[in-house]
Amino acid sequence: MTADLFETVGDARPSREIIAEGAVLLRGFARPFEAELIPALRMIVKQSPFRHLVTPGGHRMSVAMTNCGSLGWVSDPRGYRYDPIDPNTGQPWPALPNVLRKLAANAAAEGGFEDFAPEACLINRYVPGAKLSLHQDKDELDYAAPIVSVSLGLPATFLFGGLKRSDTPRRYRLEHGDVAVWGGPSRLFYHGVAPLADGEHGVLGRQRINLTFRKVR
Ligand code: SIN
Ligand code: FE2
Repeated sequence: MTADLFETVGDARPSREIIAEGAVLLRGFARPFEAELIPALRMIVKQSPFRHLVTPGGHRMSVAMTNCGSLGWVSDPRGYRYDPIDPNTGQPWPALPNVLRKLAANAAAEGGFEDFAPEACLINRYVPGAKLSLHQDKDELDYAAPIVSVSLGLPATFLFGGLKRSDTPRRYRLEHGDVAVWGGPSRLFYHGVAPLADGEHGVLGRQRINLTFRKVR
């Protein structure tokens, strides 16, 4: 009886869409964390502000980035790497807040990956027109752990391909609170984000924020 009640009352169970072997979209999964999540993010970006990284090829990325956690992902003309120090502040990255740790672990478990304990949370900020070209997340030493990716703010078109760059990606609309988890057979699938359409989000305004959690080592 009780279980029945929980399943029907409020209709709050997030939907679960399998998009590849090892990959799921959890619609609205981050919504229950929102009240704690947004203030935590504001604190993080005060300490380690967003910046536009330069790729090893010398290209300034349209997405602005920062990190929290014991390691942060950075790019500069020397290459891509994980660094415990924010090169812009000379200080360690802000700690991973418990609310983010919990959101990431719960989403991973919902995607079939238990005990996910990421060291790194890359925070991406897209303004209208910003995009992320197709790429693989492969700067980590541990491919056994999944990638957990949380979307906030303006909706985006997420491109999810296959193991080869030439695999035609499928397109998924990701909205505020949606979480994508990919690991196992799809851990190294190419993915990206189409140029962000203009708009105004009720909570975050004219931007999209994406959190990407990774177990690095
Ligand atoms: C990423 O691949 O790092 C970000 C993906 C996204 O913004 O949805
Ligand atoms: Fe990525």
